[in-house]
Amino acid sequence: MGDAAFTPLKTFLRKDAKSHQAASLARTYVAVEDGTERVSAYITVICGEIEVQANHDGEDLQYPYPRYPAVKIARLAVDRRLKGGGLGRQLVDLALGVTKELICPNVGCRFLVVDAKQPSIKFYERYGFTMIDTPDNKASESPVMFIDLHRMAV
Ligand SMILES: CC(C)(COP(=O)(O)OP(=O)(O)OC[C@H]1O[C@@H](n2cnc3c(N)ncnc32)[C@H](O)[C@@H]1OP(=O)(O)O)[C@@H](O)C(=O)NCCC(=O)NCCS
Repeated sequence: MGDAAFTPLKTFLRKDAKSHQAASLARTYVAVEDGTERVSAYITVICGEIEVQANHDGEDLQYPYPRYPAVKIARLAVDRRLKGGGLGRQLVDLALGVTKELICPNVGCRFLVVDAKQPSIKFYERYGFTMIDTPDNKASESPVMFIDLHRMAV
């Protein structure tokens, strides 16, 4: 799945995805190459939370609470030979669909969030993710990005 920066993504799939699945710590969805058991891409989702920083008046009318329930994209990776082929988009659509159709109607959940690796920020922006607009977050190696599910167009 690419260069050394993405070794943790490969390691997670090989070593941890199954045990995390068995222990209900995470759910991993894989795209498999036709007729093989080779994984072309995967996405892992978990329960999460997003912290909202109050504005300078100590109050945010849009988001009055300090923390909100969320679903988090914990891992997403596409085999480098298949990048640009639409698998990343399909897996994000899957996570969004599961969250909107299965989780939100049954459990309080306001956001879909991701700690986006720098090279994937533009990819997430294409799908309507917004970066939390604080200097610390913007300077982070993996800034938090979110979709407000309550406000997104249906
Ligand atoms: C980021 C990643 C998941 C994208 O997956 P992908 O299958 O290559 O992306 P898709 O083919 O679905 O791309 C969908 C669209 O986003 C665009 N896009 C994809 N990656 C992009 C990037 N890094 N920057 C800008 N645009 C990007 C594509 O051009 C495509 O545009 P189109 O709809 O106009 O054709 C994949 O490149 C990857 O595995 N990267 C390494 C690991 C990583 O960064 N994971 C995210 C961790 S949070």
